[in-house]
Amino acid sequence: MQNFPFIPFQPITYDENEMLTRSKQFYELMHRRRSLRFFSDKPIPENVLKHILATAGTAPSGANKQPWSFCVVKDPIIKTAIKNAAEQEEHLSYTSRMPAEWLEDLAPLGTDWQKPFLEIAPVLIVVFKRNYELVNNKKKNNYYVTESVGLATGLLLAAIQNAGLNALTHTPSPMGFLKEILQRPDNETPFLLIPVGYAGNDATVPDITRKQPDAYIFNY
Ligand SMILES: Cc1cc2nc3c(=O)[nH]c(=O)nc-3n(C[C@H](O)[C@H](O)[C@H](O)COP(=O)(O)O)c2cc1C
Repeated sequence: MQNFPFIPFQPITYDENEMLTRSKQFYELMHRRRSLRFFSDKPIPENVLKHILATAGTAPSGANKQPWSFCVVKDPIIKTAIKNAAEQEEHLSYTSRMPAEWLEDLAPLGTDWQKPFLEIAPVLIVVFKRNYELVNNKKKNNYYVTESVGLATGLLLAAIQNAGLNALTHTPSPMGFLKEILQRPDNETPFLLIPVGYAGNDATVPDITRKQPDAYIFNY
C-alpha cells in the first residue's frame, strides 16, 4: 500500500455577490449547450483540445482509480472507418432493432441512421471505461467505473462548451466496433463517441425544452 502525506487544502472562495454572478454566468453558459449534429471541418486549436481533455481528468473517481481512456481521433481514414461501422449499426437499429416506442421518442430529434458528421467533425473523442487494470499481469479492480467515467465525460462536455466548441454525445450501439477499430485492450469497454468541433453553416438543432428545476429538485 502506498501512503500519501496530507497537505493543507487551499479552497477558492468568493464573496456572495461574486458567487451569485459566477453561478448565474455558468448556468447561462451551460444552458446554451446543445447536442450538435452539423459540424464544420475547421480544425480545433491543439492547446484548447489539451485543456478540454485535462479538465475531464479532474473528475472524481471511485477510490481515485480514474478508470477512463479518452482516444482522440483526427486521422481521416480512422474517422471514415468509424463512420461506416457506426452507420452499419445504426441502420440495423433504426430499421429492425429499436422498438416503436424508442423510434417515437427519437422522432422529434430528427435523427436517422446516417452519421456524416463522424467524418466532417475535426475530432472524435472516443471514451472508454477501464473495467480493471493489469499490474504485473495481475488484475486490479476499478470501482464505480460507469459513474466515474460519466462524471469525467460531463466535465469534458462542460469544458467543450466553455471553450466555445460543440459536441454530440453519440451511442451508435452496440459500440464494440470502436474497440476493434482503435485496437483497445481487453480491459476497456466503449462508453461514448463524441464528435467535437465548430458548428457548420446553417446548423440547426431541434427546438426541445428542458425540465424546469422545480420538476427535478425535491427539498427536504
Ligand atoms: C447517453 C446519451 C446517449 C445519446 N446518444 C445519442 C445518439 O446516439 N445520437 C444522437 O443523435 N444523440 C444522442 N444523444 C443526445 C441526446 O439526444 C440529447 O442530449 C438530448 O436530445 C437533449 O438535447 P441537448 O443535448 O441538445 O440538450 C445522447 C445523449 C446521451 C446523454
